[in-house]
Amino acid sequence: MPMRSHYCGAVTEALIGQPVTLCGWVNRRRDHGGVIFIDLRDREGTVQVVCDPDRPQMFATAEHLRNEYCIQVRGVVRARPEGTVNDAIRSGKVEVLCHEIEVLNPSVTPPFQLDDDNLSETTRLTHRVLDLRRPYMQRNLMLRYRVAMETRRFLDAHGFIDIETPMLTRSTPEGARDYLVPSRVHDGMFYALPQSPQLFKQLLMVAGFDRYYQITKCFRDEDLRADRQPEFTQIDIETSFMTEQEIRDLFQGMIKTVFANTIGVDLGEFPVMTYAEAMARFGSDKPDLRVKLEFTELTDVMKDVEFKVFSGPANMPGGRVVALRVPGGAQMSRSEIDAYTEFVKIYGAKGLAWIKVNDLAAGRDGLQSPIVKNLHDAALQAVLQRSGARDGDLLLFGADKAKVVNDAIGALRVKIGHSAFGKANGLFEDRWAPLWVVDFPMFEYDEEERRWVAVHHPFTAPKDGHEDLMATDPGACLAKAYDMVLNGWELGGGSVRIHRADVQRKVFAALNIGEDEARAKFGFLLDALQYGAPPHGGLAFGLDRLVTLMTGAESIRDVIAFPKTQRAQCLLTHAPSPVDEKQLRELHIRLRNPQPA
Ligand code: AMO
Ligand code: AMP
Repeated sequence: MPMRSHYCGAVTEALIGQPVTLCGWVNRRRDHGGVIFIDLRDREGTVQVVCDPDRPQMFATAEHLRNEYCIQVRGVVRARPEGTVNDAIRSGKVEVLCHEIEVLNPSVTPPFQLDDDNLSETTRLTHRVLDLRRPYMQRNLMLRYRVAMETRRFLDAHGFIDIETPMLTRSTPEGARDYLVPSRVHDGMFYALPQSPQLFKQLLMVAGFDRYYQITKCFRDEDLRADRQPEFTQIDIETSFMTEQEIRDLFQGMIKTVFANTIGVDLGEFPVMTYAEAMARFGSDKPDLRVKLEFTELTDVMKDVEFKVFSGPANMPGGRVVALRVPGGAQMSRSEIDAYTEFVKIYGAKGLAWIKVNDLAAGRDGLQSPIVKNLHDAALQAVLQRSGARDGDLLLFGADKAKVVNDAIGALRVKIGHSAFGKANGLFEDRWAPLWVVDFPMFEYDEEERRWVAVHHPFTAPKDGHEDLMATDPGACLAKAYDMVLNGWELGGGSVRIHRADVQRKVFAALNIGEDEARAKFGFLLDALQYGAPPHGGLAFGLDRLVTLMTGAESIRDVIAFPKTQRAQCLLTHAPSPVDEKQLRELHIRLRNPQPA
């Protein structure tokens, strides 16, 4: 006899009258004076098992069952009595009349109720195995699997082949810190774990594989947030002989297909927006288009106002002054505005000037604000006209270096949009909001390091006709780079690559990477580019982020079986951990601050 005939969650009316053998965990046991009900759970769901006292041996076993015991049940499926049907579950019209129970393995008392929805993340990650038993996590990981499968199906159908690339490799420049692995064989030498397979996939194009993909781990030692993990999974793709437009079309199609075939969502057409437009309107290169608020540009009109807070940044190179019009916001209290003022300070803003538009017809008297007295008529007129202000609106202002304004007011825009106020006032549209952001700059200036750095990565091709700008005006040089954004998250990004060694050298020069350094770090790439490297490009999607958005989870940790905390620790295995002195010695390593044993 087979150990199991059906999944618990798959027992339905179709099986009424049939014998079944189920294996699973006791989700709950209820004693109903003489009858015992067991909710038996497996990965497909739960089914109700009914234990009558007329089979004394079975009943005695049932009496001793506790939560999370692993048991086998033999019985017969029957319809639930009238009035006891549970439409919330798939097996809700039936129950299993129990004939025999075998305890396959008892369980000690779990540290929490599995159906407790208010567990702290620390508890969940410490007891991850039990947390993973919960239907929420089972659903998330099964969806993740289906997303990966649909992706593979799509890519396979389009001629992409999966080729593995090394985990022990050299540093790949994606802008984060590397995880290093010391070499035992080579004293003082280190491998780096890949931040992405970027260089290898380009080499595979030079090698003629033409269409490559891999669903693979990437490692980045960076500050962690809700949408970042130190090791995460990319759907990594590269292709030869396709234009930027063709690449975007194909992978828009892939993401649409994956959404349609896994969660039945039609993402519709993806708007395409330049980086410049996204920054101008939303202060972000990954705007959440569900939020119906936009920046009003005011830098030009604030140059000669009395209010130094505005005229300072307006006259400074790289300064920016904007307003954010919040329809209906005049009803906000002072304390709410104060709270938003504190919020923008997280992003470096020094304050949050505001105007409440009470009565436009009344001119200045109809405006309530600590700052209008310092704005001349022309400036005030521009504020009201450009923002399209109406009675009842609140105007919020940011004035600083452009980066601070964009970060602060951009985050404020999202915060207000997602707030209860925003939702009640129609500032948030509950829909899927995908878009492409294109025409990224090639370089941005790193104020701290006082040099140009690559916005995407240094293998990205400049726009046609922008090659010479790399030397003359790096800040104006645009790249053939593109990001796919969904609901304010950067889902994926890529670019057309440089396929000529001379252009690649120019980029290194613009980045102040000298000939010697370029040879030492990327000689293998420069060499490969010399052997008839084909035009190529690609992109990578964050699988964790993709699935997180699909599930509606708040954190990518909810779609990863064994994630790390914000402090990059695994609470289950207690990694990272100290190692033996012997191991260290083999690796030629002496600790600066030895751990107490
Ligand atoms: P990029 O660095 O933009 O591009 O990464 C691609 C996508 O990977 C996801 N991602 C992350 N997900 C979780 N945690 C992280 N720490 C993390 N970092 C990135 C994001 C992001 O859009 N080699 C290039 C791609 C290319 O040019 O083809 C690259 O890695 O969803
Ligand atoms: P102050 O003149 O510094 O008292 O500021 C007057 C108003 O301007 C207050 O509402 C401040 O919150 C606001 N404010 C100050 N600095 C900035 C800034 N950099 N951007 C926007 N508003 C600011």
